[in-house]
Formats: sequence, C-alpha cells, structure tokens
Amino acid sequence: RSDATAEKEMTLAIIKPDGLYDNYADKIKNAISDSGFRILNERLVQLDEDAAMSFYAEHSSRSFFSDLVKYMTSGPVLIMVLEKENAVADWRTLIGPTDASKAKITHPNSIRAMCGKDLQRNCVHGSDSLLSAQREISFFFKEKSPGSGSMEHDEL
Ligand code: PPS
Repeated sequence: RSDATAEKEMTLAIIKPDGLYDNYADKIKNAISDSGFRILNERLVQLDEDAAMSFYAEHSSRSFFSDLVKYMTSGPVLIMVLEKENAVADWRTLIGPTDASKAKITHPNSIRAMCGKDLQRNCVHGSDSLLSAQREISFFFKEKSPGSGSMEHDEL
C-alpha cells in the first residue's frame, strides 16, 4: 500500500429496500466506481426491527421514526463500505438531497434522482459525518477489518 492510501477516508453506504427491489444495485455500483470510490466490503442484510431502531437511534424521537423502521425492515438492504479521499462528503454529494422528489429537480444527476421516490423511499443512505461513518461501519462490520471478508448474506 502506498502512503496516499493513508489519507483515504471510509464511509457507509446502504442501498435501501426500494433500490434493491427496483433492481438499481448495478447502476448504483457503476456510479460508485465511476466516481472513484472503492467498495471495500459489502453485506446483503435483512434488518430486523431492533437493528433498524438501533441504527437510526438518533432519529428515535422524530415523528417518522416508526415509518422509517418499518420501511428499512421491509426487504433486504445492501450495506457497503466505500473508500476514497473525502469519501463522507463526496458520497453525500453523489447521492443528493434526502428528499428524492426534490433531488429529481435540483440534482438530476444524483443517485436519489435516479432511483429514489420521496423523503422515505430515497434509495440510498450515506453517513453524515466522519464520526457517524465510524459508528455505522462498526455497526455492520464489527470485529473484521474492511476487505477481509467475502460477501455475506445474513440477517441482523
Ligand atoms: S434530518 O435530521 O431532518 O436532517 O434528517 P434527514 O437527514 O432529513 O433524514 C434522516 C433519515 O430519516 C429519513 N426520513 C424520513 N423517513 C420517513 N418519513 C419521513 N418524513 C422522513 N424524513 C426523513 C430519511 O430518509 C433519512 O434516512 P437516511 O437513511 O439517513 O438517509
């Protein structure tokens, strides 16, 4: 590994149930590699209610929390660790605004404009800070170092 690798950052990306159901995984992965990210690790996961509640704990007091948990447990999600310089901010830019219906107008080249529908069914998730990225990566990839495992299919 070269020294440049040390400056790289990791972020957590999720293709949400609507994105997988509508078959956008390959298009999203193409956008990921075209934008210079490397997928270090990935897992196809069926979240249960406890896992979804815990992952989104910071939103537990919001009115939409139970809807969000129901939606995120409605089908499998693809969890990916992405690596790149400035990965956290650059992935948020690539996915576009939270409300996919608005993204279609204001950020037509974003991933959410491509495959999202609204505030809830917005196709993808991205960590919102370096600290969140670290928490979210360890939430899904506990003891293992990214890249060490092959693709896993399991429940959480
Ligand atoms: S915040 O705190 O207002 O900036 O929250 P935001 O980043 O917009 O959204 C946080 C996550 O909650 C989801 N969300 C919703 N789900 C269902 N209904 C409504 N109204 C709603 N509003 C926001 C949103 O998709 C975000 O999911 P992630 O996975 O973090 O992108």
